[in-house]
Amino acid sequence: MTNFKKLAETRYSTKQYDPTNKIPAEKIQELKQILRMSPSSLNTQPWKFTFIGNKELKTKLSKVSHHNENKIQEASHLVVFSVIDNLSILDKQIYHCLPEEKIDLFKGYLDTMTNEETRIWLSKQVYISLGFFLSACASLGIDSTPMEGIEPDAYMDILALKGYRPLFAVCIGYRDANDFNQPSKTPKSRLPLAAIIEDI
Ligand SMILES: Cc1cc2nc3c(=O)[nH]c(=O)nc-3n(C[C@H](O)[C@H](O)[C@H](O)COP(=O)(O)O)c2cc1C
Repeated sequence: MTNFKKLAETRYSTKQYDPTNKIPAEKIQELKQILRMSPSSLNTQPWKFTFIGNKELKTKLSKVSHHNENKIQEASHLVVFSVIDNLSILDKQIYHCLPEEKIDLFKGYLDTMTNEETRIWLSKQVYISLGFFLSACASLGIDSTPMEGIEPDAYMDILALKGYRPLFAVCIGYRDANDFNQPSKTPKSRLPLAAIIEDI
């Protein structure tokens, strides 16, 4: 049994990848299956996960990713996390996500929000899948870097995403042995437990 606390203490945001070390196809497949299992409010599953291993496409995306250019080029894969932007997609897929008796509850909830509020609510669900994914990577011995430093409009164009909007991306692969950010070289920095946890 994997010790989750140990994984939490040893996973980190990788800043330098070994470009020669690719993730085996079966592990990529496992990550896809794990992402599918992410939880979401009312089981909305308002996401699209785009896996990119192709070198040319990664290079193209790296150019519209601010300070993340090198990481994206060197990592084995880039995974782009997008949220439903065209809300009619949600209206259609919800019938596959919820039992019939819960559809009215769902519609009633949507009625309490503007479209913009709905999009924010849906985006939160995609962020839940990020936490799920980073933990899954750690459990498989895969290094990762979550990145909000991307240009969503440019990503949408390059990936020809229709009805979905990229929120963030994650590099996955294996660290360069000299990566300065690994915990053995740069200890993890966190607020003290007493500052963030309250017992009442
Ligand atoms: C939503 C999100 C966006 C982030 N964006 C970037 C990014 O664009 N580039 C980057 O190098 N790191 C990025 N990070 C990594 C954080 O800086 C990092 O998680 C934080 O400093 C804690 O360090 P650790 O992940 O190594 O424990 C991001 C992290 C999260 C959760």
